[in-house]
Amino acid sequence: MVNQTKFKVLEKKCTACFKCSLSSTRKNVVFGRGNPNAEMFVIGEGPGQQEDEQGLAFVGRAGKMLDTAFSAVGLDTNKDCYISNIVKCRPPNNRKPLQSEVSECIPWLNEQIKLVKPKIIVLAGSTATESFLGVKEPISKIRGRWIEKDNIKYMPIFHPSYLLRNPSKEKGKPKWLTWQDLKKIKKELSSI
Ligand code: URA
Repeated sequence: MVNQTKFKVLEKKCTACFKCSLSSTRKNVVFGRGNPNAEMFVIGEGPGQQEDEQGLAFVGRAGKMLDTAFSAVGLDTNKDCYISNIVKCRPPNNRKPLQSEVSECIPWLNEQIKLVKPKIIVLAGSTATESFLGVKEPISKIRGRWIEKDNIKYMPIFHPSYLLRNPSKEKGKPKWLTWQDLKKIKKELSSI
């Protein structure tokens, strides 16, 4: 069980952060959403426009895709995981976060993970995989593979925005591959 008080204190501190210049263009800090008591943590890249406006992670089009993909294997993104991002403030025009912004922001994510203590971490897309694990292999090569580190199982998957751009459900296509990855994740989660 997460320490609710510590989690709330962390959220309060994070939402008052001005460490990097993304703080000057954001509307809201996006701390996360979902269940901080879940065994699974999902990490995305950074908030988009909808997330910035609502102050919640993955609530725009990519978020709907994530919800749909998870529910296809019987997982509920608000119940079965906690979701956050590498950077907590929207990069202007949804550009990739700069290395300096990632370095400034990632301690918040590390603190969140310390409190949530997930057994499984799903890395959505190459920015999350590279920034969090330091793995430089293309996401198309590394997705669907378990990487174990410090008693946590990490699984990189395609970013849901990539699935929006590649809507085919045909066998071997990104959506179909993601479905296989999510089935593996669901199986692992059920065995915990
Ligand atoms: N894309 C992300 O990586 N994170 C969000 O919260 C929304 C879109």
